[in-house]
Amino acid sequence: MSDTTQTPPVHPAWLPDAAFAPLGSRRVLVVTGPDAGPVGATVVDEVRRAVTTHGGTLTVADLASADDHDLVLRVAPDGPDTGFTRLRTGGVTVVVAGDATGLLHGLHDVVRAGEAAFGADHPPVVSRPLAPVRMLDHWDNIDVHPVMGQVERGYAGGSIFYADGRVREDLSRVAAYARMLGSVGINAVAINNVNVHATEARLLTDGLADVARVADVFRPHGVRTYLSVSFGSPMRLGGLATNDPLDPDVQAWWAATADRVWATIPDFGGFVVKADSEGQPGPFAYGRDHADGANLLARAVAPHGGTVFWRAFVYNHEQDWRDRRTDRARAAYDHFAPLDGRFDDNVVLQVKYGPLDFQVREPVSPVIAAVPRTRVAVELQVTQEYTGHQKHVCYLGPLWSDVLGFPLAENATRTVASIASGAPGPGTPEDADLRAGGITAVSNVGDDEFWTGHPLAQANLYAYGRLAWDPAADPVALLDEWIGLTFPGADPRVRETLHGLMDRSWLTYEAYTAPLGVCFMVDPLRGHYGPNVDGYEYSKWGTYHFADRDGIGVDRTVATGTGYTGQYPAPWRDVYEDLATCPDELLLFFHHVPYGHVLHSGTTVIQHVYDTRADAVELVESWVPRWEALRGLVDDRLHARVAERLTEQVRSATEWRDQVRTYFFRKSGVPDASGRPIY
Ligand code: GCU
Repeated sequence: MSDTTQTPPVHPAWLPDAAFAPLGSRRVLVVTGPDAGPVGATVVDEVRRAVTTHGGTLTVADLASADDHDLVLRVAPDGPDTGFTRLRTGGVTVVVAGDATGLLHGLHDVVRAGEAAFGADHPPVVSRPLAPVRMLDHWDNIDVHPVMGQVERGYAGGSIFYADGRVREDLSRVAAYARMLGSVGINAVAINNVNVHATEARLLTDGLADVARVADVFRPHGVRTYLSVSFGSPMRLGGLATNDPLDPDVQAWWAATADRVWATIPDFGGFVVKADSEGQPGPFAYGRDHADGANLLARAVAPHGGTVFWRAFVYNHEQDWRDRRTDRARAAYDHFAPLDGRFDDNVVLQVKYGPLDFQVREPVSPVIAAVPRTRVAVELQVTQEYTGHQKHVCYLGPLWSDVLGFPLAENATRTVASIASGAPGPGTPEDADLRAGGITAVSNVGDDEFWTGHPLAQANLYAYGRLAWDPAADPVALLDEWIGLTFPGADPRVRETLHGLMDRSWLTYEAYTAPLGVCFMVDPLRGHYGPNVDGYEYSKWGTYHFADRDGIGVDRTVATGTGYTGQYPAPWRDVYEDLATCPDELLLFFHHVPYGHVLHSGTTVIQHVYDTRADAVELVESWVPRWEALRGLVDDRLHARVAERLTEQVRSATEWRDQVRTYFFRKSGVPDASGRPIY
């Protein structure tokens, strides 16, 4: 039983010592070669820690024979250039990588496999990440923002990087986090909010020594550090009269600034930029476009091998709801598709997975397929801004898996993941000019004891890393991996219960919140938590559902609506345009339909709204006793935290159910055929 008067230890997440038992109880040989560097040292440290705990042995050698070892971890020139190969031969498990980072990833592959890594002999299995960059973006502020707090859209306490108005002296939490990221193959991290406020802007200049300290902590885990920077920096930090991207002084300022960054941190990754978006400065003020803006920074960082992640989240957030012609969903495509081919090679266009904003259900953004001559990174959101603020169990692996695996390209020839990774798909010509951007996501981590507020939200961080490495992985299998690592040796009921609660929890969350892809029914006043069906209906943000007494949904067709469906390549433009082929779950995103419209599922829209909400709450209620039955089988503090959050999830889901059902009854006058209560 833990002593609650003491500061609780930081939870080990999926890296408890016990998860290393299969590896740590064996005789391990590590051959990192002469250029192992800090990542090689991490591999040695990991193995040393494991064998010390579990009674195995460690031999570190430049050249050694595999005899008398159970596991050989080896850097070799003939190893794969990224990733690693694992094989088992003559009773020895061998991991070979082209460099120390690959070896670190291979080491964790052995940890994940556990005893299975030491089973029957098998030929080499190669594991390479699909996307070259697998990034996490932190929306952390140094100062506590009056509205947004320290971590914007953060639900896990304060920042692990900053405290008391500066970068923390003690970066041990960051070191533990870096270890977690390295273990799942994340290789890039941006350490401050995309909304760059005054104090944080200075990280780029006065704060560099501190950024270098953070980079030193990430480096041994194969993770490069990036900063979010303000497009307004030349005026704000440099005292210049303009931020105009075509102004020579502005160009010189960025070049000199980049020189100092890389002089301080030679392996610095680059910049993330939110420009002309929700009030952030950008090139529009000077009559320039986003290619001018992005290339300005790209040219400054190019001599150092840096990359600029330029966000495509650009839309009019001062919309008039009376104006039915403006459709926020169209905005990113309208801004960026015409710029294809104009971005420098070291610009990556960072596109949110959907056209709106990380909703529980959105179609995949058409921008991803609309800029074939531009490097694209797809942006996911691990932090649960619109999916229950880490108070609700909502395992997002299946959502991301659907997005990454979606065959978006013309005639379904490439998936979202393959476009973002520069990987060919079926039918891609051999000589095609494929460009790799990457996969990126907003982190869900804070200085909370469990990292993520809701302990089960750790699974989202884990699954994000694993899917960024292998977008084709089965998200439920990844959840199973996470359970095995996080609760090693636990009673089988733990695994069974967690699958019961989590496997379909994204769909459950969807089922009690906004129906059929209609989006935005969250409460603006509670930071997007809880229901407020009309909360955004007459707002400037451009997010509407248009419910009236006859029907609901947004007509985004070419024939009669905003024309958004026309932004998709074939076959999707036709699939979404036509009511007969539009999938049920996206119906209200693309069409305005009467409440009596019959879905492909055979039920009407209104009865679907009624039934799914009521059924979903019953399901969530059933989770409470199921979790309660695990008391004593998992760590007490973790059990208590999850129990407390489940109580809130039941309360909140009930509120969603009752407000949404009642709202639609009052609008439509159609009774619920099931007779369940409406208020
Ligand atoms: C959402 C979110 C903001 C964030 C923005 C972004 O709109 O609510 O907090 O700044 O996305 O991605 O830039």
